[in-house]
Amino acid sequence: MRIKFLAACCASVLSLNAVAQKSQPVVINADKLTAKIQPTMWGVFFEDINLGADGGLYAELIKNRSFEFTTPLMGWAVKGKKINEGDVLVLNRQEAAENNPRYLRVNLKDADAPTDATLTNEGFRGIGIKKGLRYNFSVMYRQASKGLKMHLQLLDENGKAVGSGMLNPEQSGTTWHKQTTGFTANTDVKKGKFQIWFEGSGSIDLDMISLFPADTWKQRPGGLRADMVQMLADMKPGFVRFPGGCIVEGRDLANRYQWKKTIGPIEERELIMNRWNTEFKHKPAPDYFQSFGLGFFEYFQMCEDIGAEPLPILNCGMACQFNTAELVPLDQLGPYVQDALDLVEFANGPITSTWGKKRADMGHPAPFNLKMMGIGNENWGPQYLERLAIFTKAMKEKYPAIKLINSSGTDPDGARFDLLNNAHRKNKADFVDEHYYRSPEWFFSNAARYDSYDKNGSKVFAGEYAAHTKNEPNGPNINNWRAALAEAAFLTGLERNASVVNMASYAPLFAHTDGWQWSPDMIWVDNTSIYGTPDYYVQKLYSLNKGTNVVDIKQANKVIAGQDSLYASAVIDQNKNELIIKMVNASNKAKAQNLQIKSGKKLGATAIVTSMSNDLKAVNSFDAATKVSPVDERVNVKGKTVTLELKPYSFNILHIPFK
Ligand code: AHR
Repeated sequence: MRIKFLAACCASVLSLNAVAQKSQPVVINADKLTAKIQPTMWGVFFEDINLGADGGLYAELIKNRSFEFTTPLMGWAVKGKKINEGDVLVLNRQEAAENNPRYLRVNLKDADAPTDATLTNEGFRGIGIKKGLRYNFSVMYRQASKGLKMHLQLLDENGKAVGSGMLNPEQSGTTWHKQTTGFTANTDVKKGKFQIWFEGSGSIDLDMISLFPADTWKQRPGGLRADMVQMLADMKPGFVRFPGGCIVEGRDLANRYQWKKTIGPIEERELIMNRWNTEFKHKPAPDYFQSFGLGFFEYFQMCEDIGAEPLPILNCGMACQFNTAELVPLDQLGPYVQDALDLVEFANGPITSTWGKKRADMGHPAPFNLKMMGIGNENWGPQYLERLAIFTKAMKEKYPAIKLINSSGTDPDGARFDLLNNAHRKNKADFVDEHYYRSPEWFFSNAARYDSYDKNGSKVFAGEYAAHTKNEPNGPNINNWRAALAEAAFLTGLERNASVVNMASYAPLFAHTDGWQWSPDMIWVDNTSIYGTPDYYVQKLYSLNKGTNVVDIKQANKVIAGQDSLYASAVIDQNKNELIIKMVNASNKAKAQNLQIKSGKKLGATAIVTSMSNDLKAVNSFDAATKVSPVDERVNVKGKTVTLELKPYSFNILHIPFK
């Protein structure tokens, strides 16, 4: 990444300022390869939390489009002087469409003005409208005979129409039909609404009332918000973990994530409550549900689009242990295990197989090449081990090549962690999933965590982590530079130990500024804008500069993990033929750092240093989206020596080309 290139004078970095302190030289042995870096090393964690999917990545603009929220008309306002009692009703088809039973019946006489009969949808937190953009409307309807026309309008904050279209339902009879139309908006609006006003007389049944912007990712109809996917694509993540997170577990088993219910025609995907709807008293989200418009097929497709390995996490027969802690009896675990086996067939199976055919029917006959899967999210205790053993046996028998991720619970230490970690390692688990939401101090002081791990044992997936500057979620202001700097320091330890840590992902990924439950988060959005936090830029820098092999880097013959507030790791990239050195100066003083490189190869005469530094309280925002972001400078290489001025509180990546 070259965010800003300060072509300026090479000498400026070399002319160390008066306050810079001299440290002992750092010695990099670029010929001593200590580990191979897996292509999966740096990835992303996605969960539908903070309006991550519905109201976020999934670009649908209509909230409660199928009237399946617990309160059927939540998000909708029904108004008009020609609407009498009984004219607009919620009906329930029950068994006839058990995944999507409700629909709206509108029965009107002589409606002919916008004030006569309107249905208005408020969007998730309003509707973001972009000037000049086309909006694609669709609806499922049924009418005995033609009668009512639907006038469609996007409204600004004052209720003024800023884009309008019309849909004249063409079919009549007893079956449901889908009809689409589109129109263009003429103004930018942050928090608009969508309104239908009816003209004519008649009765019509409506369901799946939907509005999508045309500028979805890859312009796919019914697709994803392009700016959000682009932020991920820009990171070139090695994997995407989905769909969570606690959402996998559910508050209770009925509320768990069931991938089979998230594929196929969207009108047949059963909506359920999002577990973050009720989780936090301080952040109630009564309108937070999962429509599954973003379902497993779409997750796999997004992974393929951005070149990331898919990493699905499945329920292991346990609901969230912070909530109900419901368990599936061991002798009834069969369907859960079958879901895991069938997922491999859905992703990889031939189109002649039951589940491979479903994938093909959705438009993807080629396999998605699923290679790994998580069994359980943050589950813990002997009850987890019992269930995991059943899954593992079945999976390894049928699909021995699929790597399994095992939970180590909610914390990176303590009795629960020890029980699981020891058991998994004894059982030669493929991966142990470690989670840490901890203070910046913890991150700084744990930079050497993996130095003592067995290099030949189970691999680590640092599946969820974030430095929390406050104990309580507090919105975007806690995604400050202090947190990101601590992560940058800690990640040197992951990189140095890439023989042990094969995957890592910050969590959570997305948050809507008006709809979040949990913070900090890596990327913040509102209805039309997006920005990456300092944490985002740190993760992105690691990912874009992951290299192919770790090389030895030491100071005074010691691993550099916090002595004199310095943290460092180094890799070579055999494809780009360069040496990449990452250094964090966590002190409030500049450091004049001499680097001595041992290599059989000659080095280029100049190198690029990409750095981030700022006030520890600095944050990014919609108005200052890149306030804390990388800057590039050129530095001179003298033979095999470079001298850098590491600014106070800075993260620095030096790229030195081999000749
Ligand atoms: O990332 C937010 C939550 O943190 C995840 O859902 C859960 O796995 C963890 O406790």
